[in-house]
Amino acid sequence: MSPDVELTESAAEADGPAGEGDVGTDGDSDLTEIETVALGRIATATSLSELEDAERDALGKRSRFSARYQQLGRMDPSERRDAGRRLHYVRARIEAAVSDKRAALTAVAQAERLAADRMDLTEVLPGVLAGHLHLVTQVREELEDVFVGMGYEIAEGPEVETDWYNFQALNIPLDHPARSSVDTFFVDAGEPETVLLRTHTSPVQIHLLERGRLPIYAVAPGRVYRRDTPDATHLPVFHQIEGLVVDHNVTFGDLAGTIDTFVQAIFGADVRTRLRPGYFPFTEPSAEFEISCTICAGAGCRTCAQTGWIELGGCGMVNPAVFEATGVDAEEWTGFAFGFGIDRLAIMRHGIADLRSFIENDVRFLLQF
Ligand code: DAH
Repeated sequence: MSPDVELTESAAEADGPAGEGDVGTDGDSDLTEIETVALGRIATATSLSELEDAERDALGKRSRFSARYQQLGRMDPSERRDAGRRLHYVRARIEAAVSDKRAALTAVAQAERLAADRMDLTEVLPGVLAGHLHLVTQVREELEDVFVGMGYEIAEGPEVETDWYNFQALNIPLDHPARSSVDTFFVDAGEPETVLLRTHTSPVQIHLLERGRLPIYAVAPGRVYRRDTPDATHLPVFHQIEGLVVDHNVTFGDLAGTIDTFVQAIFGADVRTRLRPGYFPFTEPSAEFEISCTICAGAGCRTCAQTGWIELGGCGMVNPAVFEATGVDAEEWTGFAFGFGIDRLAIMRHGIADLRSFIENDVRFLLQF
């Protein structure tokens, strides 16, 4: 293209086709046709490449428009100015149409791309859900860790027991009143009412003593069963942990110190423990052990019935009758035992109002721990 100062100036004027100095094609029918054809093709272009073709055909080097442009140089200056203005006017109109159309086609293409890529933020995708251990299991493992740290072994016993392991060897004879407090589930095997789901973890004491490997420092966590209707403080299936120590010269002081140690490990150093006289057939003397209330720190509240203390479990010195039932020399060996509910310990530590939350499988509850 020949650089033409006049044309360049008029480019500014022709900036807007409807602006001042608008010259139109001024009766130049050839130019009118160029413009009409170009604008028609631009308007009907359905893609960016069609639009480029239309633009090239209208204004490109081999276009009629370009030929007209080259003729300018041969015109005499008086005509050249107006002819230049007209050409420039047409070019500006075509370029504006191309630019508008390009914007429109780009917008359409983008909308199509977006529609294809559309992401539905309301859709629930099955993400990778990593579960975690149930709170009761977590607490059980913590307890195991504490006792392993104190040199204890972790023992296990069967959940289906005979009457002998669950009651008789623990000095609970058939007619003993302690049986009625633990109405149980009998299993239909052997003699009627001789095989049952264990009502506590204490029968593991019998298995350990029968094994005859002394001394014994063991805890036995596990599931136990009672014929209870579920309510805020009872479940028919729950968890206990049993402790048994048998050695020479074991004292009640050792028992008290052991309870203090694991309670502080689980509840923190501020929590105190105390023993109150109690009764269990398999320990003598027996005690109930209590911890200072985790809600009011001992001041007295509804949870602890204004006493400042909460009962956690039972304990005592192993009754010589138990040693005798299992063939352990009661003259030589002494021991202590304890047992308590893991679920109960968990609700106390975490301020959970209702034991049933543990078995309802509501993730909103479970995810809190
Ligand atoms: N087995 C008892 C119960 O389920 C708890 C218990 C009390 C366990 C005293 C013991 C103990 O080892 O010495 O209620």
